[in-house]
Amino acid sequence: MSKRIDGKAFADRLCATLAEEVVSLKQDKQLSPCIAVVLVGEDPASATYVGAKVKRCEQLGIDSRSHHLDVSTSEEELLNLIDELNNDPEVHGILVQLPVPKQINGDAVINAINPDKDVDGFHISNAGALAVGQNNMVPCTPLGSLMLLQDELGDLSGLNAVVVGRSNIVGKPMAALLLQQSCTVTIAHSRTKDLPAVCREADILVAAVGIPHFVQADWIKPGATVIDVGINRIFDEELGKNRLVGDVDYTAAAEVAGAITPVPGGVGPMTIACLMYNTVAAAKNQAGITS
Ligand code: GUN
Repeated sequence: MSKRIDGKAFADRLCATLAEEVVSLKQDKQLSPCIAVVLVGEDPASATYVGAKVKRCEQLGIDSRSHHLDVSTSEEELLNLIDELNNDPEVHGILVQLPVPKQINGDAVINAINPDKDVDGFHISNAGALAVGQNNMVPCTPLGSLMLLQDELGDLSGLNAVVVGRSNIVGKPMAALLLQQSCTVTIAHSRTKDLPAVCREADILVAAVGIPHFVQADWIKPGATVIDVGINRIFDEELGKNRLVGDVDYTAAAEVAGAITPVPGGVGPMTIACLMYNTVAAAKNQAGITS
């Protein structure tokens, strides 16, 4: 039986440290970190995520400004709001919850955010900065996953890392971060030949495909560290209601892996904690505070 990596506990510790830092920024520097959170439409999962982010802000003393726009909002209207937020010196971070409705080009919206306020780390210049090792704002889920890996394994240098999934939000930035840690990195995806064999080479296996229980126990090298990024809602016949499961078949995988993140309680809380981390970092950066 492998070790269960407790992302919730790690996230709580990180947030406690950030809360202390927010107190001293307010007292000593008259700086009140503030994030604007923009939700367009009524997607229930997005509303849940946004609610969790705003709640964490409240716990940490970070100001949050919620902008809930109608599902019929035009791209121009959203770009106007982003322009306003870019020019508001009291707003240090801007997050537009994705996906946005069909009439809006998500890339255009993300790339309209001032890169220094892009606490999601999705702006094309932040993606480029990460690719060349000049990290500015780093995407929250990969950053949180890396923190868990370093806490678990210490130095990652020389380890074989396989990232399953090539999204701009998780797979690609995760691979870039692992490469910066001198891992030997493979990005696997839906066209990869003999995916189970590729995964079996991994000392570190990151699953980010968005398919419930996709990664099987016999794809995992005994003793490997497994990071499950998936948050999938499935209907549980026995419970008679929906529940969250990851991209890894946790129960079986836990018999093989050395350590593994659960869902829920693994990467999910780290994503939000790293959003708080990025918001505090953005506020300090914009105020010229370097420590
Ligand atoms: N949708 C799914 N994950 C994310 C995320 O990390 N940030 C934003 N803005 N939208 C998302």
